[in-house]
Amino acid sequence: MVKARKYVVKKYFEGVPKKSDFDIVEYELPPLKDGEILLKTEWVSVDPYLRSYNRKMPVPYDQFSYQVGIVEESKHPTYPVGTRVVTHNGWCDYSVVDVAKITAYTADSDSLEVLYKLPELKGLSPSLGIGAAGMPGIAAYYGFLEICQPKAGETVVVTGAAGAVGSVVGQIAKIKGCKVIGFAGSDDKVKWVEEELGFDKAFNYKTVDVQSVLKNAAPKGVDCYFDTVGGEISSLIITQMNKFGRVSVCGYISAYNEDHKKTPTAPILQPSILFKELKIEGFIVTRWASRWQGAIAQLITWINHGQLKPKEHVTVGFDRLYDAFVGMMAGENKGKAVVKI
Ligand SMILES: NC(=O)c1ccc[n+]([C@@H]2O[C@H](COP(=O)([O-])OP(=O)(O)OC[C@H]3O[C@@H](n4cnc5c(N)ncnc54)[C@H](OP(=O)(O)O)[C@@H]3O)[C@@H](O)[C@H]2O)c1
Repeated sequence: MVKARKYVVKKYFEGVPKKSDFDIVEYELPPLKDGEILLKTEWVSVDPYLRSYNRKMPVPYDQFSYQVGIVEESKHPTYPVGTRVVTHNGWCDYSVVDVAKITAYTADSDSLEVLYKLPELKGLSPSLGIGAAGMPGIAAYYGFLEICQPKAGETVVVTGAAGAVGSVVGQIAKIKGCKVIGFAGSDDKVKWVEEELGFDKAFNYKTVDVQSVLKNAAPKGVDCYFDTVGGEISSLIITQMNKFGRVSVCGYISAYNEDHKKTPTAPILQPSILFKELKIEGFIVTRWASRWQGAIAQLITWINHGQLKPKEHVTVGFDRLYDAFVGMMAGENKGKAVVKI
């Protein structure tokens, strides 16, 4: 018998999630049946969608998230002992997967379940499988390239520029020959994306006048905007878009802790959308489920060639998952926030 622990969300979050919204439950996993594998969790991802999907779920629910686990016992020939896999098994230290029961993503299903072997990372940390070479990297890759269709020489703006997705978007934009302007929440983050990631310019959105710094940094206007934060800053950026500009709406973290019954307000966007003939499109990364492996292969190649720097913010310990989650929401992370179990 294997003793397992998991986090259960017992109460809907109100504002910033509280530790008391979770229970840590200990339970015994039953012996494996044919077709099942036992996973020992190695790395767990803490992501903003754990907050924004909260109200979609009936409470209580097991806290979901992507994770990297290693097969410790196997009754499935495809996944022998020692295989590392990426799953959506969440905040737990052990779990059992019935391989045949994993429902694949489809474009029109909301299922987030997944099971695939961790790609060959050529000596890089397996944690990249839930970061730059996993869901956030894939969101950056397809969400930016497919929706913004960037061309060399164009000006790209990225919000959440020092985060898991934004930091990869900015670097991909540089690889594609664009001029990249980022907004992030501290001077330290601004320095990091400019000096180490090669952004052409970055600003601390908490201390600058967004409209005027953007006018100076992008005197010819903005062609592509990768939006991870929503809210007023996004509206201000969109008013500086060029004709036929493209906006990829990836997230709206500035409102995730807000009461959704109260409608947030932002400057009116229709004049910019209409007169600049903008294309604004939202996406969920599972849209490209059948093409995830293609993105992962390209991201790993860029990492191995030194063109993409995959920074991580590592918290250690199963007991610190909650702290890592709220810390990420509060902006403690540079790059991808992950927890080593
Ligand atoms: N559509 C999809 O399929 C998809 C997939 C992955 C992620 N996403 C979305 O992409 C966004 C970024 O996700 P991530 O995983 O890369 O997280 P992340 O950027 O690594 O971490 C979250 C960051 O959000 C910033 N933040 C927090 N409150 C904010 C506020 N009020 N205004 C502006 N920024 C704020 C903080 O950075 P600062 O210090 O800069 O404030 C924090 O570090 C989220 O909106 C997420 O939901 C969408």
